[in-house]
Amino acid sequence: METNGYSIQSLVTDLRRVVSEVADERKVLSQIRPLAQRAALSKDSWLERRFYAADPEQGFGVYLLHEEPDHSLAIFAVSWLPNRGAPPHDHGTWAVVAGVDGPERNEFFVRVDDRSRSGYAELKKIGEKVFHAGDVLAMRTGQIHGIWNDSDRVSVSLHIYGKNIQHTGRSKFDLDKRTETPFVLKLES
Ligand SMILES: [Fe+2]
Repeated sequence: METNGYSIQSLVTDLRRVVSEVADERKVLSQIRPLAQRAALSKDSWLERRFYAADPEQGFGVYLLHEEPDHSLAIFAVSWLPNRGAPPHDHGTWAVVAGVDGPERNEFFVRVDDRSRSGYAELKKIGEKVFHAGDVLAMRTGQIHGIWNDSDRVSVSLHIYGKNIQHTGRSKFDLDKRTETPFVLKLES
């Protein structure tokens, strides 16, 4: 695969073409998968050293690389501190995550409650997989996962969303307390 020189701007151009031509979410994801992989493997053309700085309170650092004026097609670089991660969450839109540097363990969940109680959620873990540089995870709207960096150094991944996840009203879940609460990120500038 040609990986040199695939910039974020080129990725944006390709993403715009996909979402303008394809309506079905599964097909959108299947077409964005190789684009995300190419961008991840072309990190030399966009990855900055400063993206490795993560927020110690949050456990990770979030860098917005692109979004359209209506917040669609949002692209982030996210760095993960060693032995930290994000709790189980959804996105309120489709998501494609590509490993850029270092392993990240994803755990996958499904809701098993009947969604009748506001703020209450029971999750069941259905699997997990470690993603390395160049591996791509594509998730449909509503899919729930958590991410952990089990390694002893900062990891980085590239995240592409149908809409900026700060604007989708998505949720995070506490497995023990069985709660669903808004998941809002602290962004780095
Ligand atoms: Fe996520």
